[in-house]
Order: sequence, then structure tokens, then C-alpha cells
Amino acid sequence: MKKIAIYPGSFDPITNGHIDIIKRAANIFDKVIVLISHNPSKSPTFAIGREALTKEALKDLGNVSVDLWDGLLVDYVRKVEACAIIKGLRAVTDFEYEFQMALTNKALYDGAETVFLTASTENMYLSSSMVKQIARFSGDVSQFVPECVETELKELYKLCQH
Ligand code: PNS
Repeated sequence: MKKIAIYPGSFDPITNGHIDIIKRAANIFDKVIVLISHNPSKSPTFAIGREALTKEALKDLGNVSVDLWDGLLVDYVRKVEACAIIKGLRAVTDFEYEFQMALTNKALYDGAETVFLTASTENMYLSSSMVKQIARFSGDVSQFVPECVETELKELYKLCQH
């Protein structure tokens, strides 16, 4: 049976930090599904374009696909019979929140394990919100995001400034 892992997140937008985690997960599992999920405590900037943008950024990765899900993460995990939920950890500050989610997901559905992958050192500080802040003030984000995301960010904040 194929080992499927789900990598859920807001991906608003996807960064090189996410892509690093996805590539490493794709080396471990047969298939990785990047699941653009609803985080009730955030309202997405790329509400409409996120799926297409994420797909474009990951198009070269053979065993990686992208899906959109509005419901509970564990319901999707159960539906596709995934065996793992992937989470990237950057710093100690991520841990408490992620640990709480992992335990809650486990209580809701026992059929999958949360697997934590540590961010590589160059991505330790990287976050989508930081990238958006840099782009908003016309800073250079080329080292933090794939080219397609950089283009979208430029477009988005160019429109905002007019
Ligand atoms: O990138 P984020 O915003 O930190 O990702 C958080 C996300 C989307 C993975 C989390 O909010 C989530 O799992 N949302 C789906 C709804 C759900 O299952 N919530 C219960 C988690 S314990």
C-alpha cells in the first residue's frame, strides 16, 4: 500500500521554506499531498490564486500534488487514507502550537501520525507573513519564494499602492 502524507497549511503564499519541507517529505513518502487548508484565525491574502500558485511552484515534483480543503484536516486524512501529517518546525516558538494541533488531530483520528521535519537553517526565520511584509514595501523577496510567487506578490502590491 502506498504511503501517503498530507502537508497542510495556509500557503499564503508558498515559500522556499515550505518547498524545502515538501521535497524532503517527498523523499520519504510515496506521495505527498500539499493541502491548502482553512486556518480560522487567518484571512488569506491570496484567497483566489493560492491553489494555482502552489501548483505552479511544485509542478516539477513528480510525487507531489496540491488540493484545497475547507473542513477538518483529519477528515481529509481519513478520506485519502494517508498515514502521516507533515509539519515543519522552524523554532521552539512553533512547537507548542504544533504540539497542541498534533495531539488534537490524534484524538480526533488515530489512523495517522504527525511527523515533524525541522526547517533547514537558511529557512529558520522564513514565514509567509514576513515575505508579504517585505513585498508590500517593495523589498526584494527573490531569495525567499519561487519566481511565480514573486511575480504575483509584485502584482498584488502594485495594485494596492494605486
Ligand atoms: O500554515 P498554518 O496557517 O499554520 O496552517 C494551519 C492549518 C491550516 C494546518 C490548521 O489551521 C488546520 O489544520 N486547519 C484545518 C481545520 C482543522 O482541522 N483544525 C483543527 C486542527 S487541530
